[in-house]
Amino acid sequence: MIVVCLVQVQPSAGNFHRDVDVNWGDGRGKIVEGGRGLTLSLDQYSGSGFQSKNVYLFGRFDMQLKLIPGNSAGTVTTFFLASPGPAHDEIDFEFLGNSTGEPYTGHTNVYAQGKGNKEQQFRLWFLVDNIPIRVFNNHDASGVPFPTNQPMRVYCSLWNADDWATQGGRVKTDWTKAPFMAHYRNFKINTCVNGSSTGSTCGSKPGDTFSNQAWQTQELDANGRNRLRWVHQKHMIYNYCTDKPRFPQGIPSECKRSKF
Ligand SMILES: *[C@@H]1O[C@H](CO)[C@@H](O)[C@H](O)[C@H]1NC(C)=O
Repeated sequence: MIVVCLVQVQPSAGNFHRDVDVNWGDGRGKIVEGGRGLTLSLDQYSGSGFQSKNVYLFGRFDMQLKLIPGNSAGTVTTFFLASPGPAHDEIDFEFLGNSTGEPYTGHTNVYAQGKGNKEQQFRLWFLVDNIPIRVFNNHDASGVPFPTNQPMRVYCSLWNADDWATQGGRVKTDWTKAPFMAHYRNFKINTCVNGSSTGSTCGSKPGDTFSNQAWQTQELDANGRNRLRWVHQKHMIYNYCTDKPRFPQGIPSECKRSKF
């Protein structure tokens, strides 16, 4: 299964040697193919992960993930952006494994100023490539924090979470199938490096400039909106916006205002 997250303009090709550090897993994470690929592995003792060398404020991030084939129950493969600290911003894509033949779950969340609780989940038996699955609009003006001013690092990891990940924790990891491997490639970034919120030059080649304003006002076109609606109607399995028992004081205000 191949999944691509977030798509926009033409980014330039990345190189894992240049762009990331394998920071977790004691040799279980390996840069391969001269920097064009990276494999993470998970066994009984540890998972593994890597993080970008740079931090980013606005931008487009492309990554192809090849998730664990066969029995991936209990495993979680991730691609996310996060800033440090308790009042952090974070944008999450987590892929929850399953028994052989059963679909992966794509789990998404957004944190702004440390406030999360915005989960949406999708059944991934379609290819996400170029299909928008989630939009989080900026409702800063009405008091809903939006990730706009804390530079974030890109993180990817493969780890075990069989206490909750698969069918609510009922299906455990089959360690006789270990090590489990996830592959990452075609990492492309087009963004503001070390993004200061004012006056930074964004883009991956000289002359590429995108004002922060431009990134903030990116919207889907009609075709994108149609696809997003299709994903939400056919493939969404959890939406915090419709989980009324979870929010006895009323659903979060960005849900009411959202077009989706
Ligand atoms: C795994 O498959 C089952 C049965 O199709 C499904 O209910 C569940 O949502 C799938 N995903 C996870 C992560 O458990």
